[in-house]
Amino acid sequence: MAELKTRVGIIGAGPAGLLLSHLLARAGLDSWVLERRSRAHVESRVRAGVLEQSAVDTLCRAGVGERLVREGIIHHGIELRFGDRAQRIDFEQLVPGRNITVYGQREIVKDLIEARLAGPNAHEPVSFEATEVGLTGLAAEEPVVHFTVGGQRHRLACDWVIGCDGFHGVSRDWLPKAGVKTYERTFPFAWLGVLANVEPSSRELVYALHERGFALHSMRSNDISRFYLQVSPDEDLRAWTDERIWAELTCRLATVPGWSLRTGPILEKNLAPLRSFVVEPMRHGRLLLAGDAAHIVPATGAKGLNLAVADVRLLSNALVAWYTHGSAELLDQYSETCLRRVWRVQQFSCWMTRLLHRFPSDDAFERRIQLAQLEAVATSRAGATSLAENYVGLEHV
Ligand code: FAD
Ligand code: DHB
Repeated sequence: MAELKTRVGIIGAGPAGLLLSHLLARAGLDSWVLERRSRAHVESRVRAGVLEQSAVDTLCRAGVGERLVREGIIHHGIELRFGDRAQRIDFEQLVPGRNITVYGQREIVKDLIEARLAGPNAHEPVSFEATEVGLTGLAAEEPVVHFTVGGQRHRLACDWVIGCDGFHGVSRDWLPKAGVKTYERTFPFAWLGVLANVEPSSRELVYALHERGFALHSMRSNDISRFYLQVSPDEDLRAWTDERIWAELTCRLATVPGWSLRTGPILEKNLAPLRSFVVEPMRHGRLLLAGDAAHIVPATGAKGLNLAVADVRLLSNALVAWYTHGSAELLDQYSETCLRRVWRVQQFSCWMTRLLHRFPSDDAFERRIQLAQLEAVATSRAGATSLAENYVGLEHV
């Protein structure tokens, strides 16, 4: 048994865990990150692509924004397509000075790992391929994280334990059942995500509602495109040949005269369920949760990663205040402050999902109401402004 000690034990090396460890190191506070998967695995997962201005600012201020600023693509609008209409939501007009940046989540993870392992504060704080992760001592406020790496058991004594291990992690189960409330909604569809080696067919993201379901055209760079298709939640990926994917994307996206979809080699396909989930509160004693471990929003609003960054920013400030001035105030407010934003973002993400997907239970009436709602967003400045305001993101508190 190896005996270890750190101030903050962090479970999970996704964006939340890595950024928290990095922010703490910049404030001179040591932490230890435990990750179930290998470094290669976490650096290759294709997930989010859209960053709010406030998330970009946080990453830049943390000193990990250099490549993000160089390679990220700033967008000043998105397009909505429905029926034979295309409506641009123009951020510059509706929410002047605010925009989004397209930069892949795996690039952020690579930048953060690089900073943790090679930067000036590096002291090998990330243990990859850690298994059998468990927690004891929470009731006595002396938490100890137990884990195995390379066949060796470890015992990590911490002041604080932060669960950043995503929706399928273990840390949420360490909250005592009594006093914890969960809220959950599963949507009756999933997204088939596609990464393709082809120049984007549009300069900006296109969100489309088609009779056959939702489609989204996004991108990663000048020669890599990212797409999503609404499919059934129990879809078999093997049934989706490259030809079928391109045919379906073309059908749902190429609905505007003069616009066509470029096709090319498909690099990756994956299936992601759409769900909402919130646990309240996000803290019990010396255990706090951040990011997807505490909340999931349906991906339509492009908010999950942005919420994780907002949580971690608050949490690092709270921990720094506790260590430097002995002040527990921010830690005591952490859950409530995060949850206020989480529910706002949950509402927006569910609204955007409702607006743009075919729900199997909808009858002809519901479908007309849905189109009328899209029409209202497209034609009313107030409607479009509300979408734009939420899409570019709430200010960080
Ligand atoms: P995760 O990224 O899930 O990281 C958790 C880490 O913990 C993982 O590395 C995992 O291996 C590890 N772990 C799990 N269990 C254990 C354990 N027992 N022990 C140790 N480690 C463990 N968000 C946006 O903001 N914008 C977008 O455009 C966007 N698009 C998305 C598209 C799709 C298809 C999907 C699926 C999600 C999208 N999201 C988006 C959401 C975003 O990807 C997540 O919200 C984000 O990854 C959350 O980061 P996290 O660090 O909290 O969790
Ligand atoms: C991407 C993901 C989203 O969930 C979204 O709403 C927009 C873009 C993306 O991966 O690029």
